[in-house]
Amino acid sequence: MTQPDSPPFRVLFPHDLIVRRARELARAVAEAMGSEPPLLVAVIEGARPFARLLQQHLPTPLPVHEVRASSYAGTASTGAVKILLGADLPVRGRDVLLLEDIVDTGRTIDALKRHFLAGGARSCRVASLLSKPSRRVVPVDVDFLGFEIPDEFVIGFGMDLDGRFRELRDVVVYDPAVERAHAAAASAR
Ligand code: IMP
Repeated sequence: MTQPDSPPFRVLFPHDLIVRRARELARAVAEAMGSEPPLLVAVIEGARPFARLLQQHLPTPLPVHEVRASSYAGTASTGAVKILLGADLPVRGRDVLLLEDIVDTGRTIDALKRHFLAGGARSCRVASLLSKPSRRVVPVDVDFLGFEIPDEFVIGFGMDLDGRFRELRDVVVYDPAVERAHAAAASAR
């Protein structure tokens, strides 16, 4: 269920399904883990809820570190990726696992992987809740993937449109017409 006061956007992945899938991914991550635990690095803000779920379902308690990268304005990727936070995480000799909400063009993950590998990480893998393969500009491997989606702009479960809608429990498809109709109905009440 989306929040009662939010516009009735089309639900792509209800919260329960996201939780079930994250549990499966955590199992796969645990099985792939070597003797040394990975360094979990969430790409914030968007990946926070996914990272928390994955962390909860791992057999070993591990901290989640954070990295912030920016390449987005509104619904369009601007291309250049800047690492705004977490560029100096101690990755040398570690197996890094990047936790991402959605891989779109692939630029963010590609830039982060290059950065951490250049910083001496032994490996850098990726777990992402969602992926839009049809939008890829840079080829990237998503080692642990929740769901593939078509080329639609999604919000909720941490994902936003200019800072809005992150708090929705489900992953829904953003539709400006649905938002306008909802606002018009609310102001007519
Ligand atoms: P990429 O660098 O193009 O792969 O973009 C990755 C980042 O763009 C993600 O971490 C999200 O923050 C954002 N993003 C891409 N697609 C969507 C979407 O459909 N909804 C919300 N954010 C998105």
